[in-house]
Amino acid sequence: MYGLVNKAIEDLICKEFGEDKWDEILEDSGIDIDGFISMDNYDDDITYSLVGSISRILGISSDQVLETFGKFWTTYTATKGYEDILLMTGNNIEEFLFNIDELHSRITVTYPEMIPPKFTAYKITDNHFELEYRSKRSGLAPMVIGLLEGIGDRFNKSVSVSQISTIDDSGVDKFSFIIN
Ligand code: HEM
Repeated sequence: MYGLVNKAIEDLICKEFGEDKWDEILEDSGIDIDGFISMDNYDDDITYSLVGSISRILGISSDQVLETFGKFWTTYTATKGYEDILLMTGNNIEEFLFNIDELHSRITVTYPEMIPPKFTAYKITDNHFELEYRSKRSGLAPMVIGLLEGIGDRFNKSVSVSQISTIDDSGVDKFSFIIN
């Protein structure tokens, strides 16, 4: 994945736990990279190793790491020059949920080799949506939970997000998104 993602993981850890903890995580992961470059494309193994090491060093599950990171992502990207794109994605939660693929399409101009996920949104009622998530990568569904919670935060809404089916049992990761 592009360095933007790994850099965001680094920033999150440094902000919450300090640089010493980050150094410990890097050492545990065996990654010998001094500073990620946003526009460089890194092997996905690097991101997965970071998640594994964070989980070991902080004593939380990989799912928790991914979910926390997902929630951080919307605020992080907003402060890193993507607020305009976030604004174009939607003026409210409903518009936003239906335009996530559009958001990534706009970003492929900057990150031409990116392999974005695909989201299909369904409106069940005015405050209840379902989203299917498809990716070439595996194991990132917990990150989607955090991302969807982050979208709720962006619009100052309390939301309840849960996974209602997994790729293993139904062939697709599907989430319920309820605006409380
Ligand atoms: C302006 C905001 C955003 C930017 C700049 C952005 C950019 C990116 C980039 C660069 C990647 C790495 C892909 C690669 O290198 O192949 C990525 C991955 C991903 N993005 Fe976004 N994104 C944004 C918002 C969102 C939002 C709101 C969601 C909500 C669901 C989302 C869902 C994901 C997921 C799940 C991945 C992991 C890759 C995968 O599933 O295969 N992104 N994004």
